[in-house]
Amino acid sequence: MKFAMDNLEIKEEVLIKISSILQELEIEGYVIGGYVRDKILGKESKDIDIVVLGKGIDVAKKIVPRLPSAHSLVVYKNFGTAMFLYKDIQIELVGARKESYKRNSRKPIVEEGSLEDDLMRRDFTINALAISLNKDFGRLLDPFNGIKDLKDKIIRTPLEPDKTFDDDPLRMMRAIRFATQLNFEIEKNTYEAINKNKDRIKIVSQERIIDELNKIIMAQKPSIGFLLLENTGLLKLILPELSAMNSVEVKNGISHKNNFLHSIQVLDNIASNTNNLWLRWAALLHDIGKPKTKRFEEGVGWTFYGHEILGAKMIPTLFKRLRLPLNDKMKYVQKLVRLHLRPIALVEEEVSDSAVRRLLFEAGDDIDDLMLLAEADITSKNQQKVKKYLENFKKVRQKLLEVEQKDRIRNFQPPISGEIIMETFGIPPSKIVGDIKDAIKDAILDGEIHNNYEESYNLMLKLAKRYKLSPVTNKYKPEQNEKQNT
Ligand code: CTP
Repeated sequence: MKFAMDNLEIKEEVLIKISSILQELEIEGYVIGGYVRDKILGKESKDIDIVVLGKGIDVAKKIVPRLPSAHSLVVYKNFGTAMFLYKDIQIELVGARKESYKRNSRKPIVEEGSLEDDLMRRDFTINALAISLNKDFGRLLDPFNGIKDLKDKIIRTPLEPDKTFDDDPLRMMRAIRFATQLNFEIEKNTYEAINKNKDRIKIVSQERIIDELNKIIMAQKPSIGFLLLENTGLLKLILPELSAMNSVEVKNGISHKNNFLHSIQVLDNIASNTNNLWLRWAALLHDIGKPKTKRFEEGVGWTFYGHEILGAKMIPTLFKRLRLPLNDKMKYVQKLVRLHLRPIALVEEEVSDSAVRRLLFEAGDDIDDLMLLAEADITSKNQQKVKKYLENFKKVRQKLLEVEQKDRIRNFQPPISGEIIMETFGIPPSKIVGDIKDAIKDAILDGEIHNNYEESYNLMLKLAKRYKLSPVTNKYKPEQNEKQNT
């Protein structure tokens, strides 16, 4: 072919075998897409996409029986694709096509085409490279100068960008995702076309959008992606709450910080300390309640009172709209958003045992993640200040450890349950039961009594007296319990 390039040394056993099977069957085939791109970038990939001239499913059905260790063949008739496993490698086979390469399209793909037809309907030049599996095994085909773009670190569409994005508007987000993961620039025309076509993102399913967004969040430096999303106008469409934070207001010569830039900086900070997607989401959204709580107070300046509470309240609606999970993952993000100011408040005040106990109680097993978030939240440009805060955080961590060892608060359940209170005093479920329970919990957290059954029981009796209640049974009396237990 006219666009042949150098040879690549392919040692992958499965590709050597597939190549010889294809040659035996006299079928033309090529490795394309991410595997080729990653190979040239020196990265390993366990996903291999193969294009054949002919019907992908039929070819896969011929290959699998001839390839020892190949198993789990699955065919997707609508997309004309077949997938199978070879050891831990996933191989996807598809026939070359004239139409755009669209996953999740409801339209069946029928029109067969040449390799060049197929490559030109792909998303970016760096993904439109092919490695021959034919007689010239290993030959690299590069019709759109993808190698040059890889070298120059450029994301560019093979066709006019309007056409490529019209074929599948999700590609606008893919451009930004690849730019973030690979630290590449988006070429000017391609970038402008994203800005021009941004509204078309509305026809893409939320599930596909969130897949790309999660990949951006999981990159080494996610802020690259969020700046691109914001500057192209996509962020306003997919996550308006975050985009709304990109402003700085000035009153009486006093300004507040740009909370969008701050949030993505916090995300970058936490990204260097965790691969937990949900902790990264919490970092991104920790100040999401700020725009709605912003006030200017004479003599005080800008305030955002209660933004952590409002922010936590916004999470379920936001997760629902984005089609993020509404389970314990969401609750975890909500909790971290709600508590994100607490460690810093501990640093600013005198670190008392009871404040530490309360924080441990509320954060439970997520305390370490909360500390990571609080540390990532320090984005001051004043290095002295940053150093001071981080040193103070060290002290808080030490205190957390000491208190936890002493009082075991992390997974603490108050020793007196509602049932015990109801049965002991012969009362039905009521506000009094909750009040007594809370008062016992508070007394333990404040260090007024120890975290044990006997002291809690005695306090319960004392508190009950205030409500003129007296025990109707001794069933739960501590000595009684001991006797029963022996
Ligand atoms: N592709 C495309 N348009 C899309 C999705 C995919 O043109 N909307 C093409 C690209 O050539 C891409 C190939 O299909 O390289 C495989 O897609 P996918 O597996 O989603 O991406 P990879 O490039 O393999 O990258 P990654 O695995 O990192 O997502």
